[in-house]
Amino acid sequence: MERFPPFASLAPAEGTRRPGHSVADATAILHRLAYVKQRLAIAAAAYLPSIPEWEAKCALALHGWLDAEHAEQLYSRIAELREPPPGAKDVPDARLEAALDEMFAAGDTRGRIAAVHGVVRPLFRSAVADYLRGTNPLCDQPSTRVLTAIQHEEEVIGRWGDAAAASVASSPEAIDWTGHLGAWVEAAGGVDGRRPAGNSPPARFSRPYRFAVLPRRDERFAGLFDPSTPADLVYLDETRDADERNAALMFKRLREMDVPELIAGIIAEHWAEERNARPAEPRKWTYYTAMFRQMWDEARHAMLGQALMESRGIDWTTLPVNVTFSWKLARHCSPLERHILLYAIEQSLMPRDRGKPYEHRVAAASGDPLSALFHDFDWADEVLHVDIARRCLKPELPGGLAEARQRADALWSRIAERLAADPLPADGDPRAVRDWWPRFARSVLGRDVAPVPDTDVKNWRPIE
Ligand SMILES: [Fe+2]
Ligand SMILES: [Fe+2]
Repeated sequence: MERFPPFASLAPAEGTRRPGHSVADATAILHRLAYVKQRLAIAAAAYLPSIPEWEAKCALALHGWLDAEHAEQLYSRIAELREPPPGAKDVPDARLEAALDEMFAAGDTRGRIAAVHGVVRPLFRSAVADYLRGTNPLCDQPSTRVLTAIQHEEEVIGRWGDAAAASVASSPEAIDWTGHLGAWVEAAGGVDGRRPAGNSPPARFSRPYRFAVLPRRDERFAGLFDPSTPADLVYLDETRDADERNAALMFKRLREMDVPELIAGIIAEHWAEERNARPAEPRKWTYYTAMFRQMWDEARHAMLGQALMESRGIDWTTLPVNVTFSWKLARHCSPLERHILLYAIEQSLMPRDRGKPYEHRVAAASGDPLSALFHDFDWADEVLHVDIARRCLKPELPGGLAEARQRADALWSRIAERLAADPLPADGDPRAVRDWWPRFARSVLGRDVAPVPDTDVKNWRPIE
């Protein structure tokens, strides 16, 4: 008979006989790795609204979702290892917890990038490599599988993170944070806890957990509080040609960066509430994984807008990509109230006459194949988000999603009242352009368009 490779080719025969981690050791190390992934995900949510740079928001949205998934995969693997499994609320080591808390004290982009991509991720990756070298590839194959998949996605994360870390590396902030956080992780015995623990430098972070959730944007952008909403009128205006309505959709996608800003704040503040109050029954980690997925999808939708703009040679950074939505909700609503309003908006996307099916039809009718493709997937994502609301928001409310639908109107009215006393910041940037639609439409379409009636964002309820 033919001779086939032994041991399902997991390893050479002698490799299958090598010693490895015990179940207890494997559980202990994997718990630390899961915990680091949980904390990287939460750091992404905590950073995303207040980090000004657009491209950093895009990367944080992706990395936060991948980290959340990796934490979930690791928690699932630990649950297979016989002992009562630790969950996301369980801290494997108070020193590791304190070291990762220090990430929250980094307030500027350079320090944050150095902390995450210059320190924690490289240490995490070497801890994974050490685990894989130290474990038996046969008896612990399920752990090996999970960690190998994580290694692969860490490479994806590293494509952005290593370049970003290199670009800030020589800044005083990055040098400072690299030394500080490196010393703190070292003091915790390293990511895997297998090195002797040492002394930590003075802490910069102190509990309770509290995050800055008001959105910020980088210096390229003006008109952050632009009060006009022409794209929201134009895309529905059937007296206008489909290509102009498609240009409105391009802008609507681009503006969606305010949705990940909103969701990041919900995630970070819910996590903080739980860690501060330590309830007996905190949310399961699967809640966070689903919310991170939606956060990433919405950032991806903004990038669809960016790609559409760039396909037409438009400098999208000159447009008033405003933050009024994420700003007023972060300012005037609790995280749960924000989630209710997010749900109410997503509900409004389903009708065929103006929601996602309609947007897809407009994009297709405009003769722009890239926009038609993007709106096909955008629609699919939004259907998924209705399901995420069922999984994540429904259990938060005694009356379920019916309660969410009931409360949304009153919440919008309350925001309007609060804005009367505590208004949106005045947009004093001299670069902010009023009446920008005709100019933008001309640059996309190469022709003049009919004027758009005046609108005011104060009375505007977003349709994502
Ligand atoms: Fe979206
Ligand atoms: Fe959505």
